[in-house]
Amino acid sequence: MNGSAQKHSIAAAWDDLRAMAPVTLAALFAADLARTAAFTRRITWPSALGGDAEAGMRIDFSKTHLDDAALTAFEALADARGFGAAREALFGGGIVNVTEGRAATHGALRGSGTDAQVEEADALLARMGMLVEAIHEGALGEIRHCIAIGIGGSALGPALAIDALTRDVCQVDVHVVSNIDGLALEQAFARCDPATTLIALASKTFTTIETLTNAESALAWLADNGVEDPGGRVIALTAAPEKAVEWGVDETRVLPFPESVGGRYSLFSSIGFPIALAVGMDEFRAMLAGAKAVDDHFRTTKGRANAPLLAAFADQFYTRLKGCQTRAVFAYDERLALLPDYLQQLEMESNGKSVTVDGQPVDGPTAPVTWGGVGTDGQHAVFQLLHQGTHLIPVDFLVSIEPGDALDPVHHTTLLMNCLAQGAALMAGKASDDPARAYPGDRPSTTFLLDDCDAAALGALIAFHEQRTFANAVLMGINPFDQFGVELGKAIAKQIASGEGDFDPSTKALMAAAGLG
Ligand code: F6P
Repeated sequence: MNGSAQKHSIAAAWDDLRAMAPVTLAALFAADLARTAAFTRRITWPSALGGDAEAGMRIDFSKTHLDDAALTAFEALADARGFGAAREALFGGGIVNVTEGRAATHGALRGSGTDAQVEEADALLARMGMLVEAIHEGALGEIRHCIAIGIGGSALGPALAIDALTRDVCQVDVHVVSNIDGLALEQAFARCDPATTLIALASKTFTTIETLTNAESALAWLADNGVEDPGGRVIALTAAPEKAVEWGVDETRVLPFPESVGGRYSLFSSIGFPIALAVGMDEFRAMLAGAKAVDDHFRTTKGRANAPLLAAFADQFYTRLKGCQTRAVFAYDERLALLPDYLQQLEMESNGKSVTVDGQPVDGPTAPVTWGGVGTDGQHAVFQLLHQGTHLIPVDFLVSIEPGDALDPVHHTTLLMNCLAQGAALMAGKASDDPARAYPGDRPSTTFLLDDCDAAALGALIAFHEQRTFANAVLMGINPFDQFGVELGKAIAKQIASGEGDFDPSTKALMAAAGLG
């Protein structure tokens, strides 16, 4: 399709979508008795039970306002945007990160990429596995704790996975430290014994000031507490191995990953080393298998049957057609408490953009603000606004059929019941003669029902959201793999540190009051 034909098709798809008469969820269900099945997808992977057993997740999109006509228009939009070719470029090592002239090869980390990329990723994984196993076997002496230092994509994934997967078994007690605020590192020190603590230093670029400052302080803490060779306790996880070596890490303790793996997409690379240290390589490989199952589904499934693409259709529908500025994610599972934080970076750093891949202004709003928390806590704190506030907020609910706890089953059944009740209540609403007690209803939600919330399911959820983010980017014509918006603040912080720079009056006054400059 040439440029003007493409523009025409994109505009035509949006015109069709804008011309659709608003319809309520109740009307959609009434008009189609098979709606639930038609809008439910299931993705499966090999079960942890082994053999031929399967596990998976069911995703119910039926409580969104998408209907057959909207899906047809979104499929036309995807075609006009070249979704199929973009997806092949993603998995085929094409330059999908055009502003930086790079491929985005996070899929290869779990086996979804070109043969050469997958081979390279497998070799790096095998090396990481050998180091993890050697450490577990005592090659570096007794290691009971690990302080994993990194920030953004070098911290949020490990923090999520370690919090999710170490509830029952934990081989090494890992503390993820990201903040430059010394309180964060001090808290980790207080919980670790320096004699048995390893430092995992995670930074894609190995230039991030917060991470390198925290690393220096961690090494000083080891030295001050009698560790003879603090440098020997450092493992570096990076796409810039030469910088790690220059910084002082022994090259045998540098676990590299390819430059083409973006920071917020790096959980399955050596950035996941602290996860593997905590839960073991078998669990880490189970996470990869769950992610691969989603990749396979995403890569081979067409149109509306493709679950991450369908999720992106719903995202576009609410953001662009209904003016929703936020999307909420509530996990009814303590193990997924950090998922909203993880998704915030994934979605907002990827798609919080104002220009298209061609550098033109975008033709509508891009990523909504992702926010959320855990259920049932959220119900007693912020759900009032979801039910009766003036904002329309699509909500994702996540819950596992299998409980994670061993307490009275009443805990888990109450959790499940509450999760399902919220989606039902948002949709149904409730009339009342008393306006303060009336619920408007017709509020959308999507429910992710996991068979179990184990390592494979976590890997699947992460890959699902990576592919959903990519699909959204393609539908909007933007590059999800750069993040130039984070640079200006870093540059100004350096100017403040050096005192050189022309600051605005407010910043000057704040600097003076804070004793800076
Ligand atoms: O400043 C943003 C960012 O570059 C993120 O994209 C990245 O995940 C984070 O900082 C950490 O970067 P690095 O892994 O290079 O230390």
